[in-house]
Amino acid sequence: MNNFEYCVPTRVIFGRDTHKKAGAIISEYGFHKIMIHYGGGSVRKSGLLGLVEESLREHGIEYILFGGAQPNPVLSLAKEGMELCRREHVEFILAVGGGSVIDSAKCIADGALNPDIDPWKFFLKEEVPAKALPHGNILTLSASGSETSLSCVITNEEGGLKRGFNSPTHRPLFAICNPELTFTVSKFQTGCGTVDIMMHTLERYLGGPTKDTPLTDRIAEGLLTSVMEAGTVADKNPEDYEARATLMWAGSLSHNELTGLGREYMMQVHQLEHELSGMYPAIAHGAGLSALFCSWSRYVCEVDPMRFAQLAVRVMNEEMNFEEPLKTALNGINRLEGFFKSLGMPVSLRELNAGIKETDLEVLADKCSFYGSRTLPGIRSLGKPEMVDVYRLAY
Ligand code: NZQ
Ligand code: ZN
Repeated sequence: MNNFEYCVPTRVIFGRDTHKKAGAIISEYGFHKIMIHYGGGSVRKSGLLGLVEESLREHGIEYILFGGAQPNPVLSLAKEGMELCRREHVEFILAVGGGSVIDSAKCIADGALNPDIDPWKFFLKEEVPAKALPHGNILTLSASGSETSLSCVITNEEGGLKRGFNSPTHRPLFAICNPELTFTVSKFQTGCGTVDIMMHTLERYLGGPTKDTPLTDRIAEGLLTSVMEAGTVADKNPEDYEARATLMWAGSLSHNELTGLGREYMMQVHQLEHELSGMYPAIAHGAGLSALFCSWSRYVCEVDPMRFAQLAVRVMNEEMNFEEPLKTALNGINRLEGFFKSLGMPVSLRELNAGIKETDLEVLADKCSFYGSRTLPGIRSLGKPEMVDVYRLAY
């Protein structure tokens, strides 16, 4: 096990009716003027926004509304939000929505207090946000883990570049997680969320060379098994509270380091996917991951078949073939692919129906390799030629 530091400071308020406590929780921190940030309108339609406003009014908290964060949120809207926060002297941002809204809020929070820095420089890792507005969230979709994570992922429309960076300023003060709020999430987005949650753990489990992490492995395997069960139930019965609750809690745990503690990893499939949804904003992040993951696995698993075979046996109920572990590994990948299909998720780039052309694969690899200047470490390192191979295999 490698050395590690573990600190997940976000306060999680989990369960039925917790969204009604928003006003009380925010007033505990002493904020008087806040911004509510939301997306394309699902929170208006469901009535959640009205309830949150009511709760804020009850506690005498002044607020402004700022909606419009789109799936795969963009920098231009975040810049508008930064201006608004400065003009209105906002003290705190409450994100109400899924990962896109929360990430947009994090970006606004960084930029609002750093007016002299081009916020894109944070994503290019040329600047670091030394301070930011505090923020919290009411989560409405189980997927990204952004509700407790230290990541923020934004698309710069100029160049169609989707980039993320980690910062302590991205840790929300609190996350209000009521699984009932996810009953209205569509079948497709539920599938995308299930895949994304699994992927945050799978990429840690399969992403690097460290071997001696038996406890972390078992935690990861338990999470994956639970998420597969809950994802199947939620797909069939969107209002199953227990399934929605498992997905919601797993979403946070899967991306707050717990399932990768003591391991080295690089999230190669995430890096490959961000180029897809950056270039084709209609692609949902989870669908992009689903389209890539099994091809990536087949490409890299020869280097460490025992690791993939362990996953196959412990999570996918495959029999171990000790003479030919690669066979076990590949059977496990096939089973996982079958699971993604059972949720209606795409397992190839063509199935994304986004109009990706074969000639685009080179461009995607160019962007992902920063025009040939970076190699992604992992079980098998991916430079630009290998990235093209994976995109081709997935095509
Ligand atoms: O915009 P609204 O109207 O709210 O609708 C959303 C959106 O259309 C809808 N939705 C959300 N909650 C709903 C609902 N519809 C009905 N009922 C509800 N309760 O679902 C659609 C998708 O929402 P979005 O927020 O885009 O989904 P998700 O949570 O999967 O977030 C995806 C974004 O998170 C990033 C992804 O790259 C992508 O941009 N990620 C962020 C990470 C992080 N910050 O730690 C890590 C992840 O790996 C990921 O990269
Ligand atoms: Zn993800």
